[in-house]
Amino acid sequence: MQKILITGGAGYIASHTNVELLKGEYELVLIDNYINSCEEAVKRVEELSNRKITFYEADLLNEAALDTVFSEHPDIQQVIHFAALKAVGESVEKPLDYYTNNITGSLNLYRAMLKHGVSKIVFSSSATVYGDPETIPVDESAPIHATNPYGHTKSMMEQILIDSAHANHWDVAILRYFNPVGAHDSGRIGEDPSYPNNLLPFVSQVAAGIREKVVVFGDDWSTPDGTGVRDYIHVVDLAKAHVQSVEKLNQSKGVHIYNIGTGRGYSVLEMIKAFEDACGHSIRYEVGPRRSGDIAEVTGDPRKSLRELGWKAELGLKEMVDSAWKWQSANPQGYKV
Ligand code: UFG
Repeated sequence: MQKILITGGAGYIASHTNVELLKGEYELVLIDNYINSCEEAVKRVEELSNRKITFYEADLLNEAALDTVFSEHPDIQQVIHFAALKAVGESVEKPLDYYTNNITGSLNLYRAMLKHGVSKIVFSSSATVYGDPETIPVDESAPIHATNPYGHTKSMMEQILIDSAHANHWDVAILRYFNPVGAHDSGRIGEDPSYPNNLLPFVSQVAAGIREKVVVFGDDWSTPDGTGVRDYIHVVDLAKAHVQSVEKLNQSKGVHIYNIGTGRGYSVLEMIKAFEDACGHSIRYEVGPRRSGDIAEVTGDPRKSLRELGWKAELGLKEMVDSAWKWQSANPQGYKV
């Protein structure tokens, strides 16, 4: 058994990753402050995998708590670092909260790793670090051009990690996610935002009658139907990329950066249409103004991930929307029971 520390371990992507890890020879220690998640998600992961998880309710800003976690588990061999604030709009309004939480929290984590001799880490990064790339699908060598405080924190967290890896001989996998959507096919775990900032959770809540209509942020972009195009990736595929990254770090040294996307884009209208097929009724929407900071289109080149990680997205649009709808309809209140 290999013990892994999962920061932000009760969140959307972590929950799905934990289920995949627990199919293998991994033992998990979770740390989460439950600001944007809850204990019920952890319980459901335990129930789905029929395994026990050790979890700590603690903040990465609390250095003493981090020290306790590492001291109580001297056999932690790798870290998967998910914990971060992640709402783009909120980051523009409260940049200092984002820098404090994401940067200081990460620094505390990296220092604790150094102190306790843990030298392998998988980092949850984002395609947002590319900003509005010059060529798409964008590959990992494209320049870093984040355009908002949230994106800046992700690119800084990457850079701090890379510098630390070079100085301390760490082995690091940086995963740049495109747009994660969907849910576990059991319908037991999924995305549970307090207020949806992203397209699919919003569409899902409109389909469920919780919200009145979707506002499409502009239909005059230079894309085939005029609405924004993104590379949506099924969260279960994304979860598997983490398992493969952990395995990769057990075998090869140094810093590795991977795009985790499909390479294929869908527009906002295509996503709404696919969701209508999943839920079996029409979804009300209207076209509104562009959202500030948005870009027309971004997709990721996943070839390096295939070549070096042996990872490739297996699930398509239908599985994304079907699973999202299954989760939404089985859990109209999210994790609130
Ligand atoms: N959109 C709408 N209406 C909505 C929400 C979104 O039309 O109510 C559109 C957006 O304009 C965009 C597309 O749907 O064209 C996807 O928007 P999301 O907010 O779901 O996702 P983004 O691509 O803007 O951003 C997401 C995450 C970021 C991450 C980024 C990486 O929110 O954290 O992907 O590309 F960094």
